[in-house]
Amino acid sequence: MAGKIVILTGAGLSAESGLGTFRDEDGLWARHRIEDVATPQGFARNPQLVHDFYNARRVQAADASLNPAHLALAQLQEHWPDEVVIVTQNVDGLHEKAGAQALHMHGELSRARCAACDATWQAPPQMTPQTPCPACHSPAARPDVVWFGEIPYHMDQIADHLADCSLFAAIGTSGQVYPAAGFVQEARAAGASTIEINLEITDVSRAFDSRRIGPASQAVPDWVASLLA
Ligand code: APR
Ligand code: ZN
Repeated sequence: MAGKIVILTGAGLSAESGLGTFRDEDGLWARHRIEDVATPQGFARNPQLVHDFYNARRVQAADASLNPAHLALAQLQEHWPDEVVIVTQNVDGLHEKAGAQALHMHGELSRARCAACDATWQAPPQMTPQTPCPACHSPAARPDVVWFGEIPYHMDQIADHLADCSLFAAIGTSGQVYPAAGFVQEARAAGASTIEINLEITDVSRAFDSRRIGPASQAVPDWVASLLA
């Protein structure tokens, strides 16, 4: 494989591991209000509600099993460790569980952050508004995930990778949340070929050169096999 492969993953990658997506009809945003559980304002208003929401997802993610899509991406990265970059919007830690490394642009459920001093640490399974920060000891622990209105992590690194990638793949993401939804345009501007792997056509499908429609647990291993052939 000549050149860098940048792979953006979304909730659809982990759907067959039993973790809900956000915007499918039974998705998380059908059952919870974003403004209550995924904004700094919601956290300030009712930190207990936010901790309850992420505590439940943290336990679920810790118990989730990998599906063949996670394993196939880990195999691809193992085969070309210097060329394959995984950028994930997911916070479930399943790429690492499969042995891959990923840039977590929306943070990680397994991490906690201090809203007072910004220290981060390995989150306990259950957090409450009284969970103390190990650095400044104030009761200001929050999930180390990126909420709406906050700047995603690793954006400079991601921009550099997109600027010199020769292949960009978006897997299991609805393409409705920026900046991730705009990565395909950055990759195209760098001359990369682009592929979308999803159960269905998305709002950004027309920006991709090609697509594979199907469940990630089948479509991703097939795609990886085609690259390794
Ligand atoms: N295989 C492949 N794709 C799937 C599967 C599957 N088994 N199941 C669902 N999908 C696709 C859906 O068709 C949809 O396009 O996964 C996508 C899930 O879209 P969203 O629920 O919007 O998830 P995502 O794109 O990751 O959301 C981006 O929005 O709320 C924020 O921070 C949150 O990181 C999240 C971001
Ligand atoms: Zn602190």
